[in-house]
Amino acid sequence: MTTDLLFAIREVRVNNILNVDHLDIRKGKVTCITGESGAGKSTLMKLLNKMISPDSGEIFYKGDPLKNIDTVQHRRNAVMLSQVPLIFPGTIKDNLIMGYMLNGSKPHGDGLLKQAIHNMQMTKALDQDAGTLSGGEKQRLAMARILLLPADVYLLDEPTAALDEDTEMVVLSHFIEEIKKKHASLIMITHSRKVNEQYAEERIDLSQPPFREEVKKNTKGGL
Ligand SMILES: Nc1ncnc2c1ncn2[C@@H]1O[C@H](COP(=O)(O)OP(=O)(O)O)[C@@H](O)[C@H]1O
Ligand SMILES: [Mg+2]
Repeated sequence: MTTDLLFAIREVRVNNILNVDHLDIRKGKVTCITGESGAGKSTLMKLLNKMISPDSGEIFYKGDPLKNIDTVQHRRNAVMLSQVPLIFPGTIKDNLIMGYMLNGSKPHGDGLLKQAIHNMQMTKALDQDAGTLSGGEKQRLAMARILLLPADVYLLDEPTAALDEDTEMVVLSHFIEEIKKKHASLIMITHSRKVNEQYAEERIDLSQPPFREEVKKNTKGGL
């Protein structure tokens, strides 16, 4: 296995949901995952974050079997923003701080926190109640929170689904710029063709063969 691999997925099965014989994800790249609703995109991402385990097969992270890597440690290396972003009760600042408190990484001053939300196209006071934010603002707050964390790979599950296209492009452009500065990797699920065309360095389409055919083969005969 070559050393430029971040994740290597071999013969992985999850129920009848996902069936991946061979998939490599390279280090330092922006990898976009597409596929129709129900294709198994979120399931794949949860596997990479160790939120779920495969029924069979093996996933390797930087050459080591993921099952042998400590889950808490792995989630610090491979931080994930789930499809419905988690917003904690409290202010915007509480939410930004929560990320690195849970993560155990070093705290940031208010100036940096303000800059973090500003970079995500939000001009809100840090002491505003996060519960009052719109869906799109909550997504951007969650993106700002995750970007404040040091990590090797950022896993984003449809991070900009609630944003208009212009905001989506600006927010992602900044996110990717920061990731590149950190020499980290980004794996992102997106429905946007424009995002895919503009930002993907590697593409995985779960609607296309071999993935689609493998799942069909696996479910033949009905459920
Ligand atoms: N915990 C689960 N138990 C059973 N079925 C599930 C579970 N999670 C997801 N599924 C099913 O697996 C399929 C893929 O789900 P998901 O990975 O969320 O797809 P996507 O993110 O591509 O829309 C869907 O049909 C979904 O209903
Ligand atoms: Mg999904």
